[in-house]
Parts: sequence; C-alpha cells; structure tokens
Amino acid sequence: FVWGGSRHLLCCLPPTPSLSFSQATWLNLEGLSVSGPLKDMDFFVQEGGGPRILHQFTLEPPAVSFRTSGEKDGIIDIEAKSGILYINGSLDWETKQVHKLQVESVNGSGSTVDGPYTVTIHVEDINDNPPEFNQTKYSGVVRQNSRPGKPFMYVYATDRDDPSTLHAQLSYSILHHFPKYFEEMLFQIDNVTGAISPTKTGSYYLDPLKQDTFTLVVSVKDMGGTTTNAFANSVDVVITVMESLWKAPSTIYIKENSTEVHPVNITKVQSNEPGVIYDIFEKEKLPRLPFSISKDGDVYVTQPLDREEKDTYTFFVVSKDSTGELVEKPLQIQVIVEDINDNPPVCQQDLTVLEVQENEQGGSNIGTVLATDMDQENTPNSRLRYHIQSQEPENPSKNLFYIQQDTGTLQLAGRSLSKRESAKYNLKVLVTDQQFQTICDVEIHVIDINDQIPIFEKSDYGSVTLAENTPIGTVILEIQATDRDEPATGSSLIIYQMKEGDPNNTFIIETDAETNRGFVKINKALDFETMPEYNLVINATNPEPLVSGVEYNSSSLAAFNVLVTNVDEPPVFQKPVFKTEVSEDIPVNTLVMTVEAYDPEGDSVRYSLEGDARKWLKIDSATGQVYTASLLDRETEEVYSIEVVATEQKNAAQKSKAFLVLHLSDVNDNHPQIATDNPTFFCYPVSGGERTLIQAIDADEQFFYSRFTFSLANEMNARNNWEISKYNATHAYLSPKHANFEEKVYDVPIILNDNGKPPLENKVNLKVSICKCSSENSCFIEIDRQHSRPSVGLAIGILLAVLIVIGKRILAGVFWHMKQKEKKGKSQPKDAKDNAELNRLT
Ligand SMILES: *[C@@H]1O[C@H](CO)[C@@H](O)[C@H](O)[C@H]1NC(C)=O
Ligand SMILES: *[C@@H]1O[C@H](CO)[C@@H](O)[C@H](O)[C@H]1NC(C)=O
Ligand SMILES: *[C@@H]1O[C@H](CO)[C@@H](O)[C@H](O)[C@H]1NC(C)=O
Ligand SMILES: *[C@@H]1O[C@H](CO)[C@@H](O)[C@H](O)[C@H]1NC(C)=O
Ligand SMILES: *[C@@H]1O[C@H](CO)[C@@H](O)[C@H](O)[C@H]1NC(C)=O
Repeated sequence: FVWGGSRHLLCCLPPTPSLSFSQATWLNLEGLSVSGPLKDMDFFVQEGGGPRILHQFTLEPPAVSFRTSGEKDGIIDIEAKSGILYINGSLDWETKQVHKLQVESVNGSGSTVDGPYTVTIHVEDINDNPPEFNQTKYSGVVRQNSRPGKPFMYVYATDRDDPSTLHAQLSYSILHHFPKYFEEMLFQIDNVTGAISPTKTGSYYLDPLKQDTFTLVVSVKDMGGTTTNAFANSVDVVITVMESLWKAPSTIYIKENSTEVHPVNITKVQSNEPGVIYDIFEKEKLPRLPFSISKDGDVYVTQPLDREEKDTYTFFVVSKDSTGELVEKPLQIQVIVEDINDNPPVCQQDLTVLEVQENEQGGSNIGTVLATDMDQENTPNSRLRYHIQSQEPENPSKNLFYIQQDTGTLQLAGRSLSKRESAKYNLKVLVTDQQFQTICDVEIHVIDINDQIPIFEKSDYGSVTLAENTPIGTVILEIQATDRDEPATGSSLIIYQMKEGDPNNTFIIETDAETNRGFVKINKALDFETMPEYNLVINATNPEPLVSGVEYNSSSLAAFNVLVTNVDEPPVFQKPVFKTEVSEDIPVNTLVMTVEAYDPEGDSVRYSLEGDARKWLKIDSATGQVYTASLLDRETEEVYSIEVVATEQKNAAQKSKAFLVLHLSDVNDNHPQIATDNPTFFCYPVSGGERTLIQAIDADEQFFYSRFTFSLANEMNARNNWEISKYNATHAYLSPKHANFEEKVYDVPIILNDNGKPPLENKVNLKVSICKCSSENSCFIEIDRQHSRPSVGLAIGILLAVLIVIGKRILAGVFWHMKQKEKKGKSQPKDAKDNAELNRLT
C-alpha cells in the first residue's frame, strides 16, 4: 500500500466479493486514512481482482451529496451520500486503460458547491494473456552452407498485455529439434526477434542429400522468458534444406592471346540470397587482376591473357550485403591459361663459336646450336627443328656440316677440314617451331691439330705444410705446364685437375687462360684429425681431343704433397644447448641429464658449471652427468639456464661452453591462499545477509585457469555465523548469517581447495573486521581503546592495512575515517582526510 503525492496504489486491499458498505469494513479503511476532501485524484488499480473500495470523499457543508459523471462503464461510481469511490466488478487493461470521472459536491437544492474535479483511474496490467504466434505453423527454406547467424525466416508472436511491462516481453527459444544428429543444434533462434538462422555447426553440416527437412518446436514465453510462471506457447517450424546455389565453378580454361572482343564472359556465380553485391578479389598479389564480375554474378576476363607471363590465376568471388558484410563463404575460382603457339624460337647465343681440328674425321661431333621457345614445353608449340640454311664460304664445297634436326648437334659431314682452304666458316642455322622461325649464327674455326700434350715444368712440386685452420680460398701452390699447339685454341688451353689423392674435392685448380698458369686453392676446410696428409697427383689436359696416335703421358702429370699440421682446438660440444624438463619436486642427487663434449685432439675433457646462481645443480667433471644439488622450485624460477664448460685435461686454457637449460614442470606444491590485498570487513551493526567478495590465489602453475572451492571449516561456530557461496572460479561471497556480531575482528576458518593434480587443500583463518562505518564502504576504526577488542596490536595491524588501502583507494573516492585517542584516555575523533595525514599516506 503506497501513499505518496497523488499516487494511490490499491493493489493490496483485500477484494470484497460482493460490495456492501458495512461500517465494519469501512472502519478499516478509515484507519488507513483513505478519505479526504474532494479534489483531483489519480488512482492506480490492477486489472482483475474483483470489487473494491478505493477512497472516500468527505462532504463539506453546505454540500449534502456528490454527483458523478464520466466513464463509469457500469462498474465505477461514487456513492452520492457517503462519497465512497468503488469499483463493483473487475477492470480490464486490455479493454480500457484509463477511466476518467467528474465529481462535484452539491447542496440540498442540487446546485454545485465544489467541483467538478477529475478522478482518474489508471488500470494496471497483470500478466493475464499468453503470447500467441501469428501463424499456426511456419515453414522456411535454408540453403546449404548459409552463413551462420544469417536469418532465413522469422516467427512472430504477440501478447495482449501491456507492452511496456514484462507481461508482454516475449522471448523465443527452440524447444525441440527433429531429427537431432549432433550435440549442438543446427539452428538457432534470436530470443528477441524470432529470427531463425543456421548455427556454425548447421552451416557446416546442412546438406539436402543427407537430410532435407527439419522440424523445430519453437517456444515463446512472456515475462522475458525469465521466470518459471511466465505464459508460454509453442509452434512447429518446418525447415526445408536446399542445395546451395553458391558454388565454385570447376577450373576454367582460357586460351591465351585471344582475339575476341573483351571483356569475355567465362562463368557465372549465384548467391543463395537475393540482392547481394558481388565482388572479386585476388588471392595472389598481382599488378592487376584481369577479371571482373557484374552485378548479376557474371564473371569476365577483361583482356587477352599471356600464358608465358602467367599460366594460372586463382581469385575469389564474394557476395556481400549492403553493409559490406560477407553473406557467404568466398568462392575460389581457378583459371588455367592455355598455350597457343605465339612465341618464336630464340637462339641462346647471338653467335655460337665452335672449333674443329684440321684432321678431325667425318661424323665428328663439333658442338650444338642451342635455342629455346617460351611456349608450353613438351607440346608441339615448343618443338624446335634445326636446318643449316647456308654455309659461307662454300669452299671447298657446300654441305661440309650436318645438323641433327631435332637436337641441333653439329657434325662434320664427310671430310676433314683444312685451314688452307678456309680457317673460318659461318653457318646460318634455321630453327623453326610449327609457325615461327629464327636464324642462329654459328662461327666455326678450323684450328691446328691437337698433337701436342701439355708438359709440366716439373714432375714433383714437393710438399707444403699447412695449418689445419688455413682459410678456404688460400692459393697454396702455382703450377705451370706448356702446350706447343696453336695458341688460344682448345688444343693449347690447359685444364688442371686433381687426378689422385683428393676424393672430397678439398682442393681446386684454376687456370689463367692466357698463360696456362694453374693456381691450387683450398676448396674445403682442412682437418688434421681426419686427413693429416694428402699425396696429390695433378693432371693437365686440353679441352680438344688429341689426334689419334698421340696420348697423354706422365709428362702431363705432377705430384704434390700437402702436410696438415694440428692446431690445438678447444673441446667441441655435441650440441650448443642441452635442454631437459624435470619435475620441480625431484629429490636432491637426481640425474638430470648428461652433457658430452670431445676434444678434436683426443685429449680427455673435464666438465664444470658456470652461472649456477641457485646452486641447484652439480656436474660430474669426468662423465658430464648433471645432478640436482638441492631442491628445485618452479615458483622461484621456471626456466633455469646456466652454462656448462668443457676443458681439455692437459691444457686448461682450451675450453668451450654450451648452454644447459632446465625446464621445471609444475607440481601442485603450493597451498591456495586468500588474497589479502583488501581487508575484509562488515559494517557494525551487522544486519545479516550482507556479503563481500573474497579471492583465492595460488602460486602454482594453473591449468588453463585456476579454480578453487571455498568452504567453511567446522569449528569456532563458523558455520553458524557465516556463509560462503561461490561467485566464480576464484572468488566467493562471504556473508554474516545473523545480526549478533560484536564490533571486533573475527577469525573465519575457511577451507580452500585448488584444482591441481592432486588437489591441495589449505585451511586459512580469514580476519574479518566488524567495524563501525561512517558511510557506505568505509570503516570507522577506533584504535587504542581500552578494554575493548580489537587489541592494540591487532587494531594497529588493521589500521596499517586500512592505510594501505587508503593509499590505493583515495582516488576511487572511498573515504575512511579513523578515530585516534589522546594519551590521556579521552577520545578525540580525527579524520584521516585531514590534509597533513593524507599527504603522508599518499
Ligand atoms: C454490484 O453489482 C451487482 C451485480 O452486478 C449488483 O447486484 C449490485 O447491486 C451492485 N452493487 C452496487 C453498490 O452497485
Ligand atoms: C537472449 O539472448 C541473449 C543473447 O543472445 C542472452 O544474453 C540472453 O540471456 C537471452 N535471454 C534469455 C531469456 O534466454
Ligand atoms: C599474340 O600472338 C601474336 C601472333 O599470333 C603475337 O604476335 C603476339 O606477340 C602475341 N602476344 C603475346 C602477348 O604473346
Ligand atoms: C671425405 O669425406 C668423408 C665423409 O665426409 C670422410 O669420411 C673422409 O674422411 C673424407 N676424406 C678425406 C680424404 O678428406
Ligand atoms: C711424353 O711425350 C712427349 C711427346 O709427346 C715426349 O716429349 C716426352 O718425352 C714423353 N714423356 C715421357 C715421360 O715419356
């Protein structure tokens, strides 16, 4: 029953089954002072509920009765003599929401004394209408692969109750889903709009070939769907699954260098949704994408393509709604550019120069004309054929040369050549594919016969001694052979090679083509330990073959020795980093790993550790076995990284280092605790049922997230005084259960469990202050108070905690007040907001 201003809510008066104005009933009303002089009044009355009395207007002389007119609707009236305003029946919000009456008081002769005044009765809605769907059954169509969350149909329900109240606030949900193949639903409904859309799972799995019809039972509830006594209604929704129209076309083949008028239509895509905007974008980064899409989904190639520039294209077409949001998954389109023969053969060299010795015989292979064709390889478009078109001079005859038509290999046709007849021939070789032809120029030099072998200046170059760390590329020897054939031809040029003693090409020899001087260089690193000495034999030959009857002999060979000397190298570790993972709880003296190093010179190696700041590890200096030296702790250091040193036994200056990294895996070895950042308090006097959040923390590694359980220990009356309820994984509410708490600090024994494996339990005594508060959220603490708890020490402890909190909270606008007692014993309140004190605190 609310009385305030001109608002009179009469929801709670007991309805009178049949209205009679017996004094007994009325006295109660008078007791509630619902009578008064005539004036404008507003009443708020819930619909339904039956007959009732709302008010009594009192008569003031000379008035003797009331006269009422207006929207009485047969059930509202004011009794003329008594002035009682009553409803003789039930109001209905859905029929009429406001009733206005005009009332005036009249004297004995019927003329107006006071008024007219307006009495307004506002009918208030109660939830008396269930929601109703606007169809008895719905059906809809969804396309395969529709975007999750994109509505394809709506259901709609109405409720006759007051739309401004929860009574007509509707919430839709899916009650059943037939058939149901998956744990997750394939469809979802927006609880506010009634929009039905596929879920992610649905978007993925819906397939008309597997299941083309689904029936959903959709429920609608009023009261926002939040309470169990809401009205509900349900309806069947039949959904047909249709094949997706939005499908990628199969690979498209386009002939290159097309002469058609562009753009040329190559395919079409179609969205499942009407009115989408199509767009195209490249998958690869291209200077330009030679494709476009029309607003109807027709895909075009915009210009002739060139296979030799790019032979495949991959791009996406997308469908978007007007906001630019993708309507469907992008479709990938693949285009293969087909070859046409549009490239001529190309000579690999502008001029191919070949040499022929005077006496070479008919059929001798003298070289190859090389040409290429950019059209697709291994197709007729790039098949080349070779013909000799002309020979210049034709002396002593034409056709001195022959070319193999499919390979371009040139041979002497029949006879040997002679420098006297011509020292040089020019050939024009015609190279053709099926459509194009190119001419490659060839120059053939007739050279002296190769009848001289290279002769070394000496047959033994003795030996050279090299440190094993001599750098690669160092020239270690110069050698010289001479050849008396025609200079600057393949008959006199010398090629030096290691004939024996160098299986791994540790050495390489380069020739100065003008002087035929050879330079022996180191090609790969020397290693005393694997190869301390090389007995090399060097071979000198010509690129041109020798005439028959002349052979290379030992004068074209030279010996050379390389002696490699040892350099004392430091030990070498097998790995640069030794890593292992161990559990943080392994006992002292556990073998953690073994490191290994060797000395290239074969000396034995001693091991030691460096940087073991926590003294967690020790190493067996002879074996490299690493043991724990003390207990480890992941919470101190999760990745422990130190160095291990290997030293030569005989020469301690030779040492090398490697990293040793120990990953400590967590063991649940820390007990959960209550976070004590903020002191826990309740304002005195406690009324029971207030609550405050407490938080648990744990130093151990948490699996994904920490989870704690909170409970009260069965001691110190804890369960009678307090209550704990879970808030989330790390927080719980603590509430006093009753109002009988003193103003002091209570110990609340709380049992915490973490979610480690195995879980750990901890009992903590949470200090909870019951303190006087000066305003909401602020504790007013008296310290140094005689004969009262908290004790001085404890109170100072609390004070300190409070001071810390003040430091943190002052900006948050929370005020804490403190009282400090003077030495004499008389209380003098002092406000912590006092500026001097504040400055000290912050
Ligand atoms: C109230 O309504 C009932 C039936 O509709 C009628 O019999 C009764 O006389 C009415 N009482 C008044 C005070 O109008
Ligand atoms: C309606 O849906 C929203 C979001 O989808 C959700 O937060 C809310 O809890 C739902 N309401 C009911 C009554 O299920
Ligand atoms: C297209 O073909 C013609 C001959 O058919 C050729 O001249 C032209 O270079 C070719 N264009 C490209 C880009 O290959
Ligand atoms: C050649 O290489 C192999 C494999 O690396 C090695 O075993 C051998 O000792 C090498 N020989 C010489 C002569 O360097
Ligand atoms: C190798 O042959 C050349 C002539 O070709 C000759 O002068 C030389 O003496 C020969 N050397 C040996 C070792 O037979």
